[in-house]
Amino acid sequence: MNILVTGGCGFIGTNFLRHMLNESSCTLINLDKLTYAGNPRNLTSINEEYGGKRYFFEHGDICDSLLIPELLNKYSIDFVVNFAAESHVDRSITDPDVFIRSNIQGTYNLLEAARRKGIKKFIQISTDEVYGSLGSKGRFTENTPLAPNSPYSASKAAADLLCRSFHRTYDFPVIITRCSNNYGPFQFPEKLIPLSFMRALKDLPIPLYGSGENVRDWIHVNDHCRGIELCISKADPGSVYNFGGDSEYKNLEIIRKILEIMGKPDDLIHFVKDRPGHDLRYAMDFTLATRELGFMPEVGFAEGLEKTIDWYLNNQDWVECIQSGEYLRFTELWYKERV
Ligand code: NAD
Ligand code: TYD
Repeated sequence: MNILVTGGCGFIGTNFLRHMLNESSCTLINLDKLTYAGNPRNLTSINEEYGGKRYFFEHGDICDSLLIPELLNKYSIDFVVNFAAESHVDRSITDPDVFIRSNIQGTYNLLEAARRKGIKKFIQISTDEVYGSLGSKGRFTENTPLAPNSPYSASKAAADLLCRSFHRTYDFPVIITRCSNNYGPFQFPEKLIPLSFMRALKDLPIPLYGSGENVRDWIHVNDHCRGIELCISKADPGSVYNFGGDSEYKNLEIIRKILEIMGKPDDLIHFVKDRPGHDLRYAMDFTLATRELGFMPEVGFAEGLEKTIDWYLNNQDWVECIQSGEYLRFTELWYKERV
């Protein structure tokens, strides 16, 4: 079984490749454009162990309409798992252009090439953010109407609709997964958890947007990867599955937990101007995935967070390499504008 994984040098893609190489006998082809968020160092040990045997890396863009058909043929691809995307809401506010291109045009390009080739399944990795925002009660189900509020979530929702149309129109075997906020090893330090950790490590103020009351449903990346694997083996074409961690926390609570684990003072928390269009709350109803796929999150949040912080502490060379260049440039600019 040959799987084309796009965006495999990013956070979730890296964890998925590691999971599948360890837990299955599949051959995995990783196509990545290596944007600021794509780090080939994430896969050094994978390359040493499996490179040229069950793991192949291709540097390229999912928008490249010549490259994709070539790769589908070259590797006799059976499955596509599309992680490749611009993924940070704040960046989509300052520079939406590349989100439209990679997340919409790129997904279309993959779908069209895969449809022409005729593959077994196409898994589109989407997000809970396509549903918009919840009030203090309720959870998103797969039937919640799409109501995205940021350029990022709008681009992901557009891709979901293209996937749906390819199933309805061409009977193309696409499955959409919508997952809540992931955390775990290899996450780029622009997202809340690694950003808070890294700033706390250097005793820098941690920007908390608005009131800090916004709620996210946190899932360990390993649980998300297991859910995707279940979709490859069990999901019916045309289906949509929510994945979540059943772990709702306010942003203020998250940062306090991180500071407590690290033995740092609460006065590092710095309330700043809110994110425009900031969604108040996300929470996932994933009973469909439990019933039909047997999915259940296994990593408790307290344990998962401690292990994640340990991972960052024990991988300081990764942290140092990531912290140069683009990460610092964007974070510092964005932060300055908000204080
Ligand atoms: P990430 O930003 O860490 O990684 C994205 C990867 O895609 C990078 O390696 C980047 O180089 C690559 N990429 C970007 N544009 C590309 C293009 N045009 N062609 C080829 N490669 C390209 O993102 P992530 O957090 O790992 O998220 C992966 C996917 O999961 C995204 O589609 C995202 O929308 C979705 N998702 C993320 C979360 C989360 O909490 N991080 C939750 C739900 C869904
Ligand atoms: P983020 O990790 O960017 O994920 P998403 O916006 O996709 O949910 O943000 C998680 C939450 O943390 C969100 O409510 C915004 C908030 N946040 C901060 O308060 N400060 C920060 O520096 C960042 C990056 C996020």
